[in-house]
Amino acid sequence: MKIRIAIDGPSGSGKSTLAKNIAKTLGLVYVDTGALYRTVGLFAKRNGVLLEEASKVTRFLPEAEISIRYTEEGQRVILNGEDVSNLIRTPEMSMYASAVSAVSSVRTFLLEIQKRMAAEGGVVMDGRDIGTVIMPDADVKLFVEASPKARARRRFEELQAKGDTSTEKEVLEDIIKRDANDKNRAVAPAIPADDAIFIDNSEMTPEETLAHSLMIIKEKLRRTL
Ligand code: DC
Repeated sequence: MKIRIAIDGPSGSGKSTLAKNIAKTLGLVYVDTGALYRTVGLFAKRNGVLLEEASKVTRFLPEAEISIRYTEEGQRVILNGEDVSNLIRTPEMSMYASAVSAVSSVRTFLLEIQKRMAAEGGVVMDGRDIGTVIMPDADVKLFVEASPKARARRRFEELQAKGDTSTEKEVLEDIIKRDANDKNRAVAPAIPADDAIFIDNSEMTPEETLAHSLMIIKEKLRRTL
């Protein structure tokens, strides 16, 4: 049986670290769906679409070809033949991703690639609507949370390590803004699936979060197999 694990949660909750660690431990493929929205965000910016007018990206979408490739460095995202994986990891692209992700044509555009990967199975996918829209029949659904303060601290440290000059206050403000955008949008809002299992890891290390999640996964699989 090819397992499918859905991990949703807000930005900075540590869900991508957790998803990567679960994939490594259980020998599954890790699919980072946020990277797809970030890539559309970059594509929008390159086409002169302003952050406040994200829906204008719609008419450019037929010119975007986005694919995912796996290398030793993990998942890479390719936009019209160019590997943009590093370019999409900036605070500006986080805001662009959040803005374009509220546009229904963008969600439809990215649906097929995500559904295809979900259908292949043997995956851990993380995002905002994995348990509700992309894999409503996943074997295990986790919803990972942490306090906004804990999330801002982690994001801030990540960005600092990359030489970004944003302050912790700015990172926290961005997180609060993005949470509101993502939760309140009309299409596929970032809300937990009814059958998701919650993990609040504000006070947990990545290792503790992994151990706790593996326990939940094993218990869930034991009951369904
Ligand atoms: O996980 P992330 O921070 O890379 O995601 C960037 C943005 O993309 C996030 O603000 C919301 C959006 N997103 C989404 O709407 N649905 C997903 N499955 C993944 C991300």
